[in-house]
Amino acid sequence: MELEELPLSQNNWQELEQKLFLRTVNRIPLTLVRGQGARVWDDQGKEYLDFVGGWAVNSLGHCPPVVVAALEKQARTLIQASNQFYTIPQIELAQLLIKNSCLDRVFFCNSGAEANEGAIKLARRYGKLRLNGAYEIITTHSSFHGRTLAMTSATGQNKFQEPYKPLPNGFINVDYNNVEAIQAATTAQTCGVMLEPIQGEGGVNVPDNSYLEEVQSWCHEKGILFILDEIQTGVGRTGTLFAYEQYNAEPDIMTLAKGLGSGVPIGAFLAKEHCSVFSPGEHGSTFGGNPLVCAAAHATLRYIIDNDMPGKVKQVGKYFMAKLEDLKQQFDFITQVRGQGLLIALEFNSEIAEELVMACLDKGLLVNKVKPNALRFMPSLIITEEEVDEAIDILRGVLMSLR
Ligand SMILES: Cc1ncc(COP(=O)(O)O)c(C=O)c1O
Repeated sequence: MELEELPLSQNNWQELEQKLFLRTVNRIPLTLVRGQGARVWDDQGKEYLDFVGGWAVNSLGHCPPVVVAALEKQARTLIQASNQFYTIPQIELAQLLIKNSCLDRVFFCNSGAEANEGAIKLARRYGKLRLNGAYEIITTHSSFHGRTLAMTSATGQNKFQEPYKPLPNGFINVDYNNVEAIQAATTAQTCGVMLEPIQGEGGVNVPDNSYLEEVQSWCHEKGILFILDEIQTGVGRTGTLFAYEQYNAEPDIMTLAKGLGSGVPIGAFLAKEHCSVFSPGEHGSTFGGNPLVCAAAHATLRYIIDNDMPGKVKQVGKYFMAKLEDLKQQFDFITQVRGQGLLIALEFNSEIAEELVMACLDKGLLVNKVKPNALRFMPSLIITEEEVDEAIDILRGVLMSLR
């Protein structure tokens, strides 16, 4: 739809939102109406360079032609059929995921939290059948695993847990990047450990290179499951198709969502054969693996693999990090640049992230505040070095105005 055709005269969207919605989010005062590639436009026609990417979701940018074409074709063919029946797009997507990962089987669902819930149910089932009823899962502080009640319990952040206590039991939160903490928390009740390869929402926390490998060894030694939440890090985001590839580790169970559908909602959890312990009827989803969504995800993944997007992410990510390091040299209130691929944080010595988000917005750049003192960048995987330069120029200008 052309911008002119939109009912822009109705510019009371933000006022309406205040009246209509449960108060769960403080939105940035910006109403987005259109996107193309790395750019979006607001209801006043102003253009922005998007380094938020729908929270690490728009892997191929906004309205990517291959995904639009797949959606158009599938929408004319078959949109939804229940999982009582076989449908082809989900089988094609499953084949592509299995062929390109270390996992053997998949279950499709609709979001990251739902993928993690399924992974935990699978681990508990494994515990019941193979580990004398063990059911506890060890997760880490500063993690983020989703907003369902069980995932709130898995998420090791008090601010998410406190409003909902008492929480479902069976989750033990320990320090991240500390294998001894996991070892100390492991008991006869433990059936698995669930980690993010890099903590995304917790602030883009990159662990030591040996961490995942050491946790995996411990899990193998104890016969418990090693579960990786690759919802934010997966599908090319960190410079390999899955982040575990860079850490000499292989999960028994892996969860995906976000970038898998390039903006179309999909989640998945994948498992190795030895922990494929569900029986028919023990798990399910009405929309999970819906043909429309799977066609979009298949087009996304096919494009990412065929065009070596992870390799491109590695390059452009390095370029971006180097440019941010240059800024760090220039501004002494920048304390750290960290990340991997196109999941990057810039940390400051004071709580200026909110102010920076608003100043960047004014200059036509969308960035995310991941902590009061840190920005996060998670643009689409198709971002170019020229677009990185553009973002850096805006950021530099904004940082100079703070000096
Ligand atoms: C690592 C991780 N796991 C799980 C989730 C939850 O995903 P969703 O919001 O799709 O439920 C997120 C969302 O940010 C995430 O980053």
